[in-house]
Amino acid sequence: MVARIHSLGGYIYEYKKSVANPEVFWAQIAENFHWRKRFTKVLEWNFSNPDIKWFIDGKLNITENIFEKNMYTHADQLAIIWEPNDPNEEHIQLTYMQLFREVNKFANTLKRLNVRKGDRVAIYMPMVPELTIAMLACARIGAVHSVVFAGFSAQSLSERINDAQAKVLLTADGGFRGNKITPLKQIADEALESSPCVETVVVLKRTKTEVNMEVGRDIWWHTAINGQSDECPAEVMDAEDELFILYTSGSTGKPKGIVHTVGGYMVFTAYTFKNVFQYNAGDVYFCTADIGWITGHSYIVYGPLLNGAQSVMFEGVPTWPDAGRFWDIVDKFNVNQFYTAPTAIRSLLAQGMEFVNGKKLTSLKVLGTVGEPINEEAWHWYHDHIGKSRCPIVDTWWQTETGGVMISPMAGITPTKPSFATMPLPGIQPVIVDNEGRELTGNSVEGNLCIRFPWPGMARTIWGDHERFRETYFGSFKNLYFTGDGAKRDEDGYYRILGRVDDVINVSGHRLGTAEIENAINAHPLVNESAVVGYPHEIKGQGIYAFVVCGELSTGGEEGIQKSIRIAVEKIIGPFARPDIIQLVPGLPKTRSGKIMRRILRKVAEGDASNLGDITTLLDEDIVEKIIDGALVEVKR
Ligand code: WTA
Repeated sequence: MVARIHSLGGYIYEYKKSVANPEVFWAQIAENFHWRKRFTKVLEWNFSNPDIKWFIDGKLNITENIFEKNMYTHADQLAIIWEPNDPNEEHIQLTYMQLFREVNKFANTLKRLNVRKGDRVAIYMPMVPELTIAMLACARIGAVHSVVFAGFSAQSLSERINDAQAKVLLTADGGFRGNKITPLKQIADEALESSPCVETVVVLKRTKTEVNMEVGRDIWWHTAINGQSDECPAEVMDAEDELFILYTSGSTGKPKGIVHTVGGYMVFTAYTFKNVFQYNAGDVYFCTADIGWITGHSYIVYGPLLNGAQSVMFEGVPTWPDAGRFWDIVDKFNVNQFYTAPTAIRSLLAQGMEFVNGKKLTSLKVLGTVGEPINEEAWHWYHDHIGKSRCPIVDTWWQTETGGVMISPMAGITPTKPSFATMPLPGIQPVIVDNEGRELTGNSVEGNLCIRFPWPGMARTIWGDHERFRETYFGSFKNLYFTGDGAKRDEDGYYRILGRVDDVINVSGHRLGTAEIENAINAHPLVNESAVVGYPHEIKGQGIYAFVVCGELSTGGEEGIQKSIRIAVEKIIGPFARPDIIQLVPGLPKTRSGKIMRRILRKVAEGDASNLGDITTLLDEDIVEKIIDGALVEVKR
């Protein structure tokens, strides 16, 4: 078992050790795992190529570290506690032994479907136990899973399938979310029209939605697993073999397939899970994320299961049947650690205490947040009303690319401050640099957040585009990993994350590239061009504000075009990327060289044009006035 830090002194001691000699530090943690062959060297790296390798020559399988390694002690312990969307449906619990058998069965199924080590398997599924089973089955046989969030549209799914050249797609007839059903198979069918690489589609029956099954390509899940053995030898993987690809948004339109590898990701997620949440054997842990995003990968599936934890997985949404659903689940399973996004907290806060009063919440020990900055109001509400002022809050900062938590309190150990992610975890060396890349040392500084030294869970590349990986993360500041976030280090040395400094916005904890949304809008036949920026939104953190230039209005007029733009974005990306505000403008503020001055648009969207800075480089200064006049928010001049 991975060691746990128990005190602030322990943290300081471990932190110093991890900086003085990172390789010894991580090797000691890695020793706790089952390696088929021990690594011969801990780390090789440079940030200029970049080239990062951890636990060199080590051979292992991550599922052996979840299952076989712990079977003596954990066989009958619950691994997954699954709560369905409908509270009247029976929940499902799987022990480690039961989960192991299901994983093996599905691993054998994949093998029968001709999936081999290194092949990519796309997964487009609702939050059901089979999703976790599928991921682990891939890992068991060395296939690379690529989970695509079930809120993405057919076009986005197809793009991701094609980029990874997946040969199998796992999906379901439909997915339940609150009182809605998402027709997953129907969307998948549409996606597959432009994804010829997929040979086989395995379809789980969940919503009993009528679906089309294409002969020779589509097979029902229950038919596929029928008769498969529940024993399957683990494929022996190199520590640096790929475990999964997960697509995320960047500042250009094309999503990036972030690649994580087996050994480092395993060590990092297991270590950070245990320490951040201070997980004790027997605790029940509940992370509300969707497995379609990195939080679900690292802290519903891999991190908890590597620690033999009991992990609650929830199919539904926080506000259905009512806004007390999370708290009902906490009480139902006596949840000890609860991990969610600030946007969920803000939306529940807005619904009032009616849905909290009457819930016990006495089992809770630790509360966590992730994905976006948490404002003080939400922090205090969470702390006072959910944690009853006795549960520490861990505000965990990290990214798809970092694999696991980087800057965060350790629950009950690190003194917290509302809206601060506090201190780096052991092994993590953050630095703040100015725009010229000069390091800002000491306290009370603000700038671009970078990381100086590799950590085991970091992404190794972008699938099929290593040059883009280099340029995006290592091209801005020499010999540093650039996070894309701004941060402040306060007078106590505590880190506060200020948000993205690039063209990425964070809407309800969903990371979106503004260019991606613009591409979708621009695909509309009446649109000439557009610019998208984020603006402060009370519940979502950031809302999407689109400035759109149209050639002519269709018969539906302004409203008609706004509506059809929203539909277009839904179709090309997914409903979660729908713009909140669409302002039709006569033109965009551009410099003489044709570059859109987003700074100005951001100011307008924020409702404060009192200090626009220098606009004399604009091609047409008058356009700014026109945009402010037509703004759909109140703008201070
Ligand atoms: C933001 C989610 C403030 C940040 C795990 C980062 C945060 C992006 C926090 C990554 C936090 C994440 N405080 N901002 N505690 N955690 N972020 O890849 O801007 O979906 O770069 O990973 O979310 O989003 P991603």
